[in-house]
Amino acid sequence: MENRRRLWLKQIGLGIAGIGLANVKSYASPVMSEDFFDNLENHNNLIFLRSNENPYGPSPLARKAFVDNANISNRYNWDVATQLISDLAKRDSVKEENILLGAGSTEILDLVAKFVSLDKGNYVIADPSYDYWTVTLDNFGLTKNKVLLTTDKKINLQAMLEVVNQDTKLVYICNPNNPTGTICEREALVEFVTKISQNTIVLIDEAYLDFTKQQSLSNIVNDHNNIIITKTFSKMYGLAGARIGYAIANKTIIDNLDNLQSNTNNSVSVLSKLAAIASLKDDKFVSNCYLLNENVRQYTINELKKLNCECISSNTNFIYFSLAKYNKDYFKQLENNNIQGGRIYEEQGKWTRITVGKMSEMKKFIKAIQ
Ligand SMILES: Cc1ncc(COP(=O)(O)O)c(C=O)c1O
Repeated sequence: MENRRRLWLKQIGLGIAGIGLANVKSYASPVMSEDFFDNLENHNNLIFLRSNENPYGPSPLARKAFVDNANISNRYNWDVATQLISDLAKRDSVKEENILLGAGSTEILDLVAKFVSLDKGNYVIADPSYDYWTVTLDNFGLTKNKVLLTTDKKINLQAMLEVVNQDTKLVYICNPNNPTGTICEREALVEFVTKISQNTIVLIDEAYLDFTKQQSLSNIVNDHNNIIITKTFSKMYGLAGARIGYAIANKTIIDNLDNLQSNTNNSVSVLSKLAAIASLKDDKFVSNCYLLNENVRQYTINELKKLNCECISSNTNFIYFSLAKYNKDYFKQLENNNIQGGRIYEEQGKWTRITVGKMSEMKKFIKAIQ
């Protein structure tokens, strides 16, 4: 029994290492022993530069919302979803009926995949792009049409347009693109969407748009039949573990997606929704994170260039760079220094991605690979 408990503690320790639990301790049941919490802390001093999380977040207001509202977790509290949807509708200049909440934008991407797969055909996606979620499309039998990026690692809208045909059910645009950090010009994107959304769903993933000054495409969802925008609180708002994201689309599409979601708008916990509501009020936190990210990103790019690593100009909280001229074993250097980094996305040119952490973390990262 004791062995099983130890194994379990080890597993969750590995899974959530690094999470600061100071506040939780004071709320916990007295029967929890100290070693329970010790196992949750980041004993290995790992540096997380792999998943594009916000190293500073959640915002102080979101943290307060979690702690202040822990005692109402016994209630379903459906009204909280209504409040959050109303706040989001104001922020994104749409109506409440244009929004659907999900457990991270991943749940929304999944719903879109299921919806699109009701009808067979193909889908179009840039390569490389954020494609973990497309496994659902593949499993439901849709054909994947990958479209290479331009040589400067931008999404090639023209080439995508050329492969769209009458069987294309979905075109996915990650803007800015993960892993490359490049962005499509808004006007070009609007033109693209206008051309194809008559017959094909266009899914615009704006997970990283908060790191740019570009305006969301949310204001055009009601002008076109088939546009879906996904957004998340996981990146700029620092709520990756709280799992909260949402879709913006016209009412018909939202209704179709919500038919596939058994607990409409309520797969996200009340606490996460309250934290999201609080985060939306913390403009200061967002602008601080924005500036810190820009500053640390620039430092990192400058240092990577000194190491002969070509870098793609980034519009996000990560950097896409080439290891082609880097002469050490990059991944070994990371491992030796307890740094979780990315992987190779394109063999040709050995392109990899690193998340922009705090300045202190990026200094350790640069030192590790020097
Ligand atoms: C482009 C993009 N979209 C969506 C997601 C999913 O994020 P979440 O489910 O945490 O909202 C990620 C996560 O890394 C991402 O990079």
